[in-house]
Amino acid sequence: MNCKDFEIDFSEDLNLEKYENEALNALDKILLKNGKGSEMLGWVDISQTYDKKEYERMKDLSKKVRKSNLLVVIGVGGSFLGAKAVIESLKPYFKKDDFEILFCGNDLSSEYLASLCEYINEKDFYINVISKSGSTFETALAFRVLKVLCEKKYKEESKERIIITTDLKDGILRKLVNECGYESFSVPKNIGGRFSVLTAVGLFPIMCAGIDTDQMLKGVDDVLDKFTKRDISNPCVRYATFRNILFRNKKQIEYLIVNEPKLKFFQEWFKQLFSESEGKDAKGLYVESAVFTRDLHSFGQMIQDGNKIIFETFIDIAKSNVDLKVPFLKDDFDKLNYLSEKSINDINKIAVQATRIAHIEGNVSSVRVKIPQISAYNIGKLIYFFEMSCAISAYMLGVNPFDQPGVDNYKRAMYNLLEKMN
Ligand code: PA5
Repeated sequence: MNCKDFEIDFSEDLNLEKYENEALNALDKILLKNGKGSEMLGWVDISQTYDKKEYERMKDLSKKVRKSNLLVVIGVGGSFLGAKAVIESLKPYFKKDDFEILFCGNDLSSEYLASLCEYINEKDFYINVISKSGSTFETALAFRVLKVLCEKKYKEESKERIIITTDLKDGILRKLVNECGYESFSVPKNIGGRFSVLTAVGLFPIMCAGIDTDQMLKGVDDVLDKFTKRDISNPCVRYATFRNILFRNKKQIEYLIVNEPKLKFFQEWFKQLFSESEGKDAKGLYVESAVFTRDLHSFGQMIQDGNKIIFETFIDIAKSNVDLKVPFLKDDFDKLNYLSEKSINDINKIAVQATRIAHIEGNVSSVRVKIPQISAYNIGKLIYFFEMSCAISAYMLGVNPFDQPGVDNYKRAMYNLLEKMN
């Protein structure tokens, strides 16, 4: 079960080659920048075109921020999930770090915000507010509350405690930067929220968490040629084609499965990426997520035996970063000695392998995306794999991957109702 590099395989042969032209036409829309939303393709070559000066500035500031106790990241959607996904995936579960990263502004819970304010008031903290538009309601509201707190605590020094990530020229937050001289980073015009994790939006908080973003970008750079190759052997083309064929064959739900709970927020990032990109014109696979083996004891039954509208995409991690052996017990009270000295990671992998076999027997198709290990380098590759696959898949579906008219509708409706509160 060795895995040296990124690998992908499928539960069955769906004759992907038959759809090659269609898939490559979709890829061409990205490479030739001639599809709907083509002005939003800045993420495609980000590992080469990123602003090196700004990147160094981010690094310097992250070192200063890490000398405090805590960074509060305010943002929602694409201005939240990427950073949270990477940080959770790469930080140890319990190891106490003297430096914490907390998130807010991604819901409207007054209890959460009030507790957060009480908690951080006792700490030495910085704030990074992230909003490309500068005016997203949840973010703006949380920022207002935290700005007041920060100014009360730090007085004049509060100017150095607030870091703003927003559009280079436009929006309320940029205006605030220009007026008050806050430290700021920019979100490129040609990169939308859910594709922005490899810009300052994701990278600055990730750097503050002490994660090696150079390695993440190297991971992306190392797969650039492979994942943009005009060939049906391109893993992104294969995956996008596989899920499109299944969609045409009346599958309606894709489960992203992990057997490492640290990837829980990576799944949330994935769900946003695909749902906001594909859920248009009454089309698109509904994407869901499950953590195995935990969820096998709940809705695993539905996947195995229920309505046959589901398929699965497994993220298979070949080697665990930390492993544990099953201890030998003299009395063998639980009759598990037959596994003594076996690796728990190997047992976890066998459980998933067995589940995959059972699900395939139960007529549930699956994709396996295999990486050697969870690391900044491999997470970079995974991010780019899903971004590229998502854009190809959305173009195969005939929708614009880069807009979100439905979300904009909700925002409009909410503002209308809020105005009536007066
Ligand atoms: O993917 C998207 O574009 C959205 O999810 C946005 O990221 C989200 O609505 C937040 O927008 P903003 O960064 O403008 O506050």
